Amino acid sequence: MNYKYTSKSVDDTLELAQNIESEKFPGMVICLNGDLGSGKTVFVKGFAQALGIEDNITSPTFTIVKEYVNGEAPLYHMDVYRLDDNQEFGVEDYFNKDGICILEWADLIEDRLPKERLDIAFKIIDENTRVLVFKPHGMQYEELCDAVL
Ligand SMILES: Nc1ncnc2c1ncn2[C@@H]1O[C@H](COP(=O)(O)OP(=O)(O)O)[C@@H](O)[C@H]1O
Ligand SMILES: [Mg+2]
Repeated sequence: MNYKYTSKSVDDTLELAQNIESEKFPGMVICLNGDLGSGKTVFVKGFAQALGIEDNITSPTFTIVKEYVNGEAPLYHMDVYRLDDNQEFGVEDYFNKDGICILEWADLIEDRLPKERLDIAFKIIDENTRVLVFKPHGMQYEELCDAVL
């Protein structure tokens, strides 16, 4: 089943991310997809704030992953836009950790993603409106969507 949420402001997106954070569990993987400027990084900001991470969150475009270990749980924020197949970067290593992985542009590495995960597709409707479509893969993520949406 797919779930849908209409965000009418940056604050809506931040709050939604905070609500998802409240259902976190070790090894959680969240995959964000959608055009540039659709709100993926805003979502990560909200999630990081809820974890108590005080760093300023920006897209880790040139580093692929940024690790934040000063919150309630480790957060691995990845942007795989520039990750190509030839590159020796073990995304899989991060999925096997106890922290939380959030990936921007996850669709680009679909065959490397874990089977159990939450996909969120961001769609730009107008200046301040975004539609988020949630696709849970696996029981834990189904339950999370039921709880939050
Ligand atoms: N409802 C909304 N949710 C999230 N961002 C929004 C929303 N409405 C407008 N925005 C704006 O859209 C932009 C989203 O940027 P960002 O999160 O960096 O996108 P992405 O990481 O998907 O490229 C920001 O400038 C933000 O202010
Ligand atoms: Mg981004």
